[in-house]
Amino acid sequence: MAEAWEIQIRVAPLKLNKDKTKVKSMAKAADEFTVTPWEVSGNVDYQKLIKQFGTEPLTDDILNRIKKHTKELHFMLRRKVFFSHRDLKWLLDEYEKKNKFFLYTGRGPSGPVHIGHMLPWMLTKWLQDKFDAELWFQFTDDEKFLFRKKQDAQLEDYQKISYENALDVIAVGFDPKKTHFLINSLPEHAGLMHDEAIKIADRITASTVKASFGFEDSYSIGQFFITAIQAVPAILPSVLAGKNIPCLIPLGVDQDPHFRVARDVYPKLGFYKPAILHSKFMTGLLADGKMSASVPQSTIYTTDTPKEVEEKIRKHAFSGGRNSLEEHRRLGGNPDIDVCYQWLQAFFEPDDKKLLKIYNDYKSGRMLTSELKEYTIEKINAFLKEHQKKRELAKKQLNKFIFKP
Ligand code: TYM
Repeated sequence: MAEAWEIQIRVAPLKLNKDKTKVKSMAKAADEFTVTPWEVSGNVDYQKLIKQFGTEPLTDDILNRIKKHTKELHFMLRRKVFFSHRDLKWLLDEYEKKNKFFLYTGRGPSGPVHIGHMLPWMLTKWLQDKFDAELWFQFTDDEKFLFRKKQDAQLEDYQKISYENALDVIAVGFDPKKTHFLINSLPEHAGLMHDEAIKIADRITASTVKASFGFEDSYSIGQFFITAIQAVPAILPSVLAGKNIPCLIPLGVDQDPHFRVARDVYPKLGFYKPAILHSKFMTGLLADGKMSASVPQSTIYTTDTPKEVEEKIRKHAFSGGRNSLEEHRRLGGNPDIDVCYQWLQAFFEPDDKKLLKIYNDYKSGRMLTSELKEYTIEKINAFLKEHQKKRELAKKQLNKFIFKP
């Protein structure tokens, strides 16, 4: 069943946009793909990506080592939704020597949060609970300004979106005593990170950035600088404590290239390289690659109403069903390409037994596409009902989460 998530995603390669909002597609042929923080295109083959990025697969050996400490494994680990890592063995060695780690992850506040963004945050919350870890969470509103699609948008607009998105992060249930939000454009946070960002930037050449992200000379120097800023929170707690503290970064694999570049720099400045845990992408409703906030009909936002969810799934969810009911009953459906099934597996159905039953029932034709869609709608709406309640309550808690230097 693990291979069900290995769906090969087919989307048209992107073209270079004159307004610099999209990075020029580096994908060339149908079996090629590109994964950068600003572009995911082509057929994402996760096994190939491991080789391309030089990461390591998340093996059962490592999962068992984690389980020794956590007693159980989160379903996103069991099902290899998180599929790859960097230096997790080292991190566990350190943990076993009583050298505790902190967590770091983030959000680029470009608009409303969707359920794909929530995926790495759900595991981060589990890791915080199980390892009693501090979490540093960065909002890169500066990045979203520099890569804006609307040229008249202001930096302050993205700072406002940071506060809106922060409610979704709080709603995940992080511990306010152990969680610290950094908003890049806030003067007190910018001041705190500036010196480290400069030291990191000093060690990264323009040609490295070009090769890693496909940037061209027409890109602004601000865009070239972003990797240095995103790299800072992985060492900031060490700087503040005056001693090296190990760091673990759970993220969607599109964000890895920032850290692939920065990990070469940290030791040169006297810091540990952070460990990284990579998740696969939650696909869009149209099975059109990574769920992206800029394609509303393919995306479920955390603020969607039950009616919106219902309509989007009924109308747009790419299905593995057959053309007619008779054919479906006779030949069965294909859960491996069905978006509802993919979403249940990656996010909305933690119960392995129920998931296996759905898989078998759909494949054999006992379960119809309409039934699978209804099941998924109910699951998503139950999740969003709770999330939206917590999101409302989060408004009163926001101040507690913002780091006070
Ligand atoms: P952003 O806002 O694009 O995404 C936030 C997090 O969500 C992940 N993600 C997804 N995961 C699974 N399926 C999807 N469809 C999907 N879409 C997005 C991203 O990989 C990311 O982990 N520059 C960053 C913000 C940032 C950050 C960090 C992220 C700052 N520091 C450290 C990770 C770690 C950004 O724009 O993320």
